[in-house]
Amino acid sequence: MPYPDVIAIDGPAAAGKSTVGEFLAAELHYLYFDTGIMYRAITWLVLERGLSVDDEAAITELAEQAQIDVGPADVSDGRQYTVLVDGRDVTWDLRKSQVDDNVSPVSAYPGVRTALTAQQRRIGQRGHVVMVGRDIGTVVLPEAPLKVYLDATVEARARRRYLENAARGHRARYSDILRAMRRRDRIDSQRDTAPLRAAADAVVIDTTDMPVNQVVATVLKLAQERDP
Ligand code: DC
Repeated sequence: MPYPDVIAIDGPAAAGKSTVGEFLAAELHYLYFDTGIMYRAITWLVLERGLSVDDEAAITELAEQAQIDVGPADVSDGRQYTVLVDGRDVTWDLRKSQVDDNVSPVSAYPGVRTALTAQQRRIGQRGHVVMVGRDIGTVVLPEAPLKVYLDATVEARARRRYLENAARGHRARYSDILRAMRRRDRIDSQRDTAPLRAAADAVVIDTTDMPVNQVVATVLKLAQERDP
């Protein structure tokens, strides 16, 4: 059965995008591409180089020049892929709280978005891809034949992030995670360029009370039913 060549999955943090995206890509033998890591990679570089998060000009230049390579997981430590920035393996560094705390302001800069969107579009146009982010259905690949927007209450999402952290041995307080997530939601959805929102033709799924396997099954069914 033919499937849509490109599947766009958007939504706020911890709505289930990466779990669903990875499963779907494996099922369809498509590339799974998580665009959030590109914004995280630039943020990591900003911190690494000691740049101020307010220095829009320097950060834009960094985004235009940085070499971000994403490949299959080459270490079995639970990673979904390996990310190299200027040749250095930063896969886990990108998940640190310092990156979490600064990635939303960095990704709000229009010049950063222009540079990264162009790369994402090139990857998407090759087809056979499940692309996950905030603006895939609205800006990066508006022609995608299947667009899904996963949502959940901020409390449910913070709880998931808390449990994920605990499983990895990181003890962060639920109240801190909730506060940080509310802040990121606010910046991501209120920025002027490519704000977080569902495309008019996206299928919106509220995952608050859905176990992840049910979300996966729902999206897989949509892919099977959708004319490519
Ligand atoms: O999905 P994530 O938590 O790894 O994303 C990190 C940040 O990157 C998120 O707060 C907003 C930004 N982002 C974006 O602006 N556009 C995308 N397509 C993906 C992520």
